[in-house]
Amino acid sequence: MASVTSLSDSVQQHLADALASALPEADGVDPLLRRSDRADFQANGILALAKKAKANPRELATQVVSRVTTGDELIEDVEVSGPGFLNITIADRAITENLAARYADETGRLGVPQTENPGTTVVDYAQPNVAKEMHVGHLRSAVIGDSVVQLLEFTGENVVRRHHIGDWGTQFGMLIQYLDEHPHELDHEADEVSGEEAMSNLDRLYKAARRKFDSDEEFKTRARRRVVDLQAGDPHTLAMWQKFVDESKIYFFSVFEKLDMEVRDPDIVGESGYNDMLAETCRLLEESGVAVRSEGALCVFFDDVKGPDGNPVPLIVQKSDGGYGYAATDLSAIRDRVFSLKATSLVYVVDARQSLHFKMVFETARRAGWLNEDVKAFQLAFGTVLGKDGKPFKTREGETVRLVDLLDEAIDRASAVVREKAQDLSEAEIAERGAQVGIGAVKYADLSTSANRDYKFDLDQMVSLNGDTSVYLQYAYARIRSILRKAGEVRPAAHPELELHAAERALGLHLDTFAEVVREAAAEYAPHKLAAYLYQLASLYTAFYDKCPVLKAESPAQVENRLFLCDLTARTLHQGMALLGIRTPERL
Ligand code: ARG
Repeated sequence: MASVTSLSDSVQQHLADALASALPEADGVDPLLRRSDRADFQANGILALAKKAKANPRELATQVVSRVTTGDELIEDVEVSGPGFLNITIADRAITENLAARYADETGRLGVPQTENPGTTVVDYAQPNVAKEMHVGHLRSAVIGDSVVQLLEFTGENVVRRHHIGDWGTQFGMLIQYLDEHPHELDHEADEVSGEEAMSNLDRLYKAARRKFDSDEEFKTRARRRVVDLQAGDPHTLAMWQKFVDESKIYFFSVFEKLDMEVRDPDIVGESGYNDMLAETCRLLEESGVAVRSEGALCVFFDDVKGPDGNPVPLIVQKSDGGYGYAATDLSAIRDRVFSLKATSLVYVVDARQSLHFKMVFETARRAGWLNEDVKAFQLAFGTVLGKDGKPFKTREGETVRLVDLLDEAIDRASAVVREKAQDLSEAEIAERGAQVGIGAVKYADLSTSANRDYKFDLDQMVSLNGDTSVYLQYAYARIRSILRKAGEVRPAAHPELELHAAERALGLHLDTFAEVVREAAAEYAPHKLAAYLYQLASLYTAFYDKCPVLKAESPAQVENRLFLCDLTARTLHQGMALLGIRTPERL
């Protein structure tokens, strides 16, 4: 039995039973238990219940109290307060025993249960575009998506990752034609170039092709013919196209590696992966009447989507020249994910600026019957990354910031912080920690605000040791690990017979809610809730550490018990940070 029932669930159950025995019609009613400042918990459910039963709330509350068992098993004390609330204090023994059960969980999951009926969620995230630089928008999708994947997998959900990269479209005509006329430009083995080199190769080709395209009418014509060849599946043209995809992947993988993030090749199914389905998708939509021909194009109309002139703006599934675009691809991807991958949920971690697209695509899929009560789609829309000035993040020259430059700068700043603090670290260790702290800082800044909000990219703030930053959490972890090392032979051990200090109780009660927070963060695709929990955990730990000497505690039993609280805090921080994709170095 690895999964542990939380204290609040136990109290909730106990109160529900007491309620039902005091008032039979209250059977199954929620006592509405909440954490409280006055006691450990407050139950607010009696008021509404008394009103319904036309009873006096204070009297009903008193009757419930008389049916609650108190002692050191679970509830130490319960009293009526105000018009009919219950204030509940948990027994110290119950807190320690509960934490000891989490600590003893041999699966390493800290007693967090897994769902009994997992569904299959497809997470669409980290989707850069071929032959283009990655920018901060791609950072957000990758960081948020990766955390959502970790959270869902931890709760037991089946997760399929999809990196819907932009690898198709008319712009490839120009690139392919240019490469065809300069055939040896990308001739090398994958392991011969770095990510940086791959991107600079692509950039050079792109600029050269563009120059020729803009200045040479005959090249333009040849490039346009190439698009037709590509769409027709001409083998030579496809082979050229593949070179661009492969070169881009070298670059993408190098960025994902820098981000300390696992992206697997088979999960990269870009736009081109749905080419074979496009015609059928259109046929199905047209036959069912979901889409109609309008001025030659195949369109889906919506009552509530209108342009500035008041005319309806349709979703164009097929253009009048027969070409397919972004919408046809996404609709085909939905069919693939629902019918082949057997998904029950689809999550798209995509910029809020694409919200209208997804609204129309999802509604179209619903009308077609591909999405319904059993298969839901959700755009986890994220806001814009802003510069310190509060405007969308740009370089001083007004260009979009290259993601790699930004990550390198974060690593540099973090290394400086690590170096300043480190007394006994070697250069190699400083480099390693610098990367873990720098990348952690970038990820945490992104994950600690709710995704739909914009946030300011402020490296000074991100690598600060004080405040709501990953560095603060990483230091808290490293400090605990150092105490545990200093303890030497003395091992952490739970002693339920000990009375707890207020700071220990606060820390302990918070540790107990980890499972609940993880469940909520996963269910709502809201990593920021986990980040907030972890920050509070580190703060409660700091308060505990200030007030309660650990190695110099009063008795050997108390030393062991406090070490046990330290260790459980460290494990929870470590696990929680891992779910955010952030490392917790042993020393800092
Ligand atoms: N490649 C796109 C971009 O860079 C994001 C793709 C989002 N996913 C999707 N299924 N449309 O904006």
